[in-house]
Amino acid sequence: MAILQILQYPDERLHTIAKKVALVNDATRKLVKNMAETMYAAPGVGLAATQVDVHEQIIVVDISEEHNQLMVFINPEILKISGEQDGEEGCLSVPGIYETVRRADNVTVQALNLKGEPFTLEAEGFLAVCIQHEMDHLSGKVFVEYLSQLKQTRLRAKLKKRRREAL
Ligand code: NI
Repeated sequence: MAILQILQYPDERLHTIAKKVALVNDATRKLVKNMAETMYAAPGVGLAATQVDVHEQIIVVDISEEHNQLMVFINPEILKISGEQDGEEGCLSVPGIYETVRRADNVTVQALNLKGEPFTLEAEGFLAVCIQHEMDHLSGKVFVEYLSQLKQTRLRAKLKKRRREAL
């Protein structure tokens, strides 16, 4: 297992559109293991393959405090959404930034598991937010892009300054 490097916003590679996984195999399972380890080490509650510069439709989520409820979604598709919620979000690719985003309150997702078998999951609340946030990464979208242009410009300046100070 290995801790993978997480791309940092505004890295252009975060805007790459992920391709479907054609075949779930040992390489997929190894990647998922490393993604989970990277997410837990960060620590975070979700990670998309896009964030580790692998442009395949794979996300991992674990919102449990004990880090023992790993959920893996390969080629996830949203079948149904309903309701609305405003929640504060953060992202391992945008460390230290938390902003409110409006999302669906309920989502029904269909995906493949680590054996390549399809499953359907209905999620609500925070789990639903996490799934939508991670799925956005697969289409090249980072949560801060829901903010106004002005806020995004300020945010990029802030991150730039912070990175300079960290050198
Ligand atoms: Ni994120």
